[in-house]
Amino acid sequence: MKRIAVIPGDGIGVEVTREALRVLAALDLDVATQHFDWGADRFLATGVALPPGAIEDLAANFDAILFGAVGDPRVPGNVHARDILLALRFRLDLYINLRPVKLLDEKLTPLKGRAPADVDFVVFRENTEGLYAGVGGCFKQGTPDEVAINEDLNTRKGVDRILRAAFEWALHRSKRRRLCMTDKANALEYAHGLWRRAFAAMQEQYPTVEARALYVDVCAMEMVRAPDAFDVIVTSNMFGDILTDLGAAIAGGLGLAASGNIHPGRVSLFEPVHGSAPDIAGKGVANPLGSILSLAMLLEHVGEVEAARRVEAAVARCVAEGRVTRDLGGSLSTVECADGVIDGLRATS
Ligand code: NAD
Ligand code: IPM
Ligand code: MN
Repeated sequence: MKRIAVIPGDGIGVEVTREALRVLAALDLDVATQHFDWGADRFLATGVALPPGAIEDLAANFDAILFGAVGDPRVPGNVHARDILLALRFRLDLYINLRPVKLLDEKLTPLKGRAPADVDFVVFRENTEGLYAGVGGCFKQGTPDEVAINEDLNTRKGVDRILRAAFEWALHRSKRRRLCMTDKANALEYAHGLWRRAFAAMQEQYPTVEARALYVDVCAMEMVRAPDAFDVIVTSNMFGDILTDLGAAIAGGLGLAASGNIHPGRVSLFEPVHGSAPDIAGKGVANPLGSILSLAMLLEHVGEVEAARRVEAAVARCVAEGRVTRDLGGSLSTVECADGVIDGLRATS
């Protein structure tokens, strides 16, 4: 039996996770779920974001984590979100943030004349260091002499392992074995000079992968101009965050984008790319498909590959038939959209 920890979080994270769990139930797999109510409400009530022992419990007792989203306007600076989500990524050492950018239907892309075959790549976002490492601080905060620093921390080990994961994917799982490493080495000569050197060394080990390096500004432009040139993009934490919202936009929007926070062989965490969306939370209109596709990634990770493919096919069918929420041009509620996926599963069982 597979054990899945469920952390819905805040806002629409709760709404979409509920629907992903209904899809999971409809699959009738041998899984057990356990809920954790970590999020803004609990943080505001108790002052605790992530309870002591949480990381150890997840690492020892679960196969995977299904996560919703965290973020709440009532919490200044969203400190609980960092203490929950970034802590899970860092302390479980989930160094691969795998974010597919896959257009399911040409009517969903804002790019003129582009079809699904043109927008189909994956982003490997480094997920444990970079500008997110929390190294820095404030000096004379709140005074006219204030100094504020966040260091871009990059280790050779950290860069090598995300590059390795991306090259392996390009070699074994991509259609055309094309990999693009993107950085800003022209401006950040130390931190991203390390990325360039590590990339050049790794490239030699994968002679059959067509690898190139692009500065991140050009990479963003190329994602819009020529998305068909990409199979695999590998990049640092912050750039990966930004490029994957852009990727979501060219593939149908944030509501569809799925992700995995992965350490191969260990408990890993799957979540939609979007946040808690306070602007639509509680209205029952959030798109649940990003969470449902994240569930599919989770199922693949725990070895339920056929179930994962069935979920993806059912989602693709809903999208093709226009049985979607309003962000994708439909008129369904969150629940009705998930109902469509469940109907699709029944039709193929
Ligand atoms: P967001 O992703 O929550 O929302 C951006 C826009 O996209 C909003 O207009 C929203 O309505 C729309 N949107 C997002 N998901 C949607 C869905 N499933 N269906 C339909 N529309 C959807 O980004 P934000 O507004 O910048 O952030 C809100 C909060 O979420 C912040 O506190 C932020 O820090 C947090 N956040 C958390 C995560 C996470 O937990 N992984 C990710 C991003 C942002
Ligand atoms: C994401 C989010 C997070 C990130 C925030 C909530 C810290 O934007 O998962 O993409 O920047 O990684
Ligand atoms: Mn983001």
